[in-house]
Amino acid sequence: MQRMSKLLPAVLLLGIATACNQGRHSPSGFRLPAGGNVERGKAVFLELQCHSCHEVPGTDVPRPTVQPPVPVRLGGEVAKELTDGYLVTSIINPSHKLARFAKASITVGGKSRMPDYADRVTARQLTDLVSYLHSNYTVRRPMGDYLRY
Ligand code: HEC
Repeated sequence: MQRMSKLLPAVLLLGIATACNQGRHSPSGFRLPAGGNVERGKAVFLELQCHSCHEVPGTDVPRPTVQPPVPVRLGGEVAKELTDGYLVTSIINPSHKLARFAKASITVGGKSRMPDYADRVTARQLTDLVSYLHSNYTVRRPMGDYLRY
């Protein structure tokens, strides 16, 4: 019985953690169609003028022009790979979860300064756009990896 009471909090916690991952907002089962194309995605990116606000470091994409500047760069080194779900949500529902920057520089009236593209992109364009965005990120290797060389 005593063992049970020690285990109970852990079991409860596990239950809560799994419950959060269920239901219609669960990311499980979310998959973009295969065949996302980086070149086509770049064309969509330029056509929709994403670069008017976002810098894409280390590429030939024209630099942002918006004032005041948006501090959110799309690409470069990240600690872990961004998920398709996060990128898709950022594009078609930008205010759902704001990127981690000072609110004053990325919001107006509590909402993202980024327009919502839900009515402006097809699922195919979104798939290509996400492939293009992924192609600009590199995942930083954990320190342990460097020590092995
Ligand atoms: C008017 C300026 C503006 C335009 C145009 C714009 N964005 Fe954004 N974007 C922002 C701002 C501000 C944020 C940060 C707030 C947020 O998370 O929505 C952001 C965030 C993002 C993020 C999250 C990045 C992160 O590191 O968390 C992605 C991805 C993104 N934008 C992609 C795009 C794409 C793709 C387009 C074109 C279809 C686009 N944006 C057009 C302003 C803009």
